[in-house]
Amino acid sequence: MRTAKTVDRLRQAVRAARQEGKTIGLVPTMGFLHAGHMSLVDRARRETDLVVVSIFVNPAQFGPSEDFEAYPRDEERDLAMLEEAGVDLVFMPSAEEMYPEGFATYVLQEGSLTETLCGRSRPGHFRGVTTIVAKLFNLVGPDRAYFGQKDAQQVAVIRRMVKDLNFDVRIVACPIVREDDGLALSSRNTYLDSRQRQDATVLSRALFEARAAIEAGQRRAAAIRELVRNRIAAVADARIDYVEVVDADDLTPLEKLQGRIMIAVAVRIGKPRLIDNIQMTVDR
Ligand code: PAF
Repeated sequence: MRTAKTVDRLRQAVRAARQEGKTIGLVPTMGFLHAGHMSLVDRARRETDLVVVSIFVNPAQFGPSEDFEAYPRDEERDLAMLEEAGVDLVFMPSAEEMYPEGFATYVLQEGSLTETLCGRSRPGHFRGVTTIVAKLFNLVGPDRAYFGQKDAQQVAVIRRMVKDLNFDVRIVACPIVREDDGLALSSRNTYLDSRQRQDATVLSRALFEARAAIEAGQRRAAAIRELVRNRIAAVADARIDYVEVVDADDLTPLEKLQGRIMIAVAVRIGKPRLIDNIQMTVDR
């Protein structure tokens, strides 16, 4: 496994692979890897010849009062996991390498996809995401890029960007990986103390209960929102940011449940803000 810390090194390595006719899979990450990230790596390994993983805690996607400084990092462990998984190339640039002095060009996606859900409580977040992902796409020129479905809004925003800016890359969204008790894996779970870790299971419990209610015939989005809100509100330390029932593709709010739908939640448990979602297809 090779590592590249500079844009030049990355470009060299990628160019060589391309000349040999290899297909390239990109897995963008912010490090502190877990089984969710590794499921993306495994899928990339199966589907492409050269697997590139980027590790970069992207300052541009954190708000001024968010956890950029505290965001967990463990380079050594990450590299060991990636080596073990058979990754070919790891790109781990410094902040100065990605945002050199005088950096002034951002990719800004307008419209409802970036304004709803997390966009409402994290202004500027998706501008940071689209900017760094566009830069990575330009640098690596991947045939396929892999993202986790836990960040479903991020996937929708990136798909829109790929269409709008004509990036020649296939976006592959991979299923959420969960702990045995349902908690969706996230690097931010590391902030939870043992009591909060228990409380955090309320997100998936509420979502699974909502799914069961829909399977039993409930078709009113308002009833589903209320069910999920009530379950989460029953946990004293949980502070709801949003509970939304939306169309899974364009993220517009629904009144009646029909077609591909998503129930998405963001909840603060102690310090961390956790997100989770389930998607399902609902018939009449
Ligand atoms: O999902 C993430 O970890 C980040 O938002 C990404 C896609 C690596 C961009 O920094």
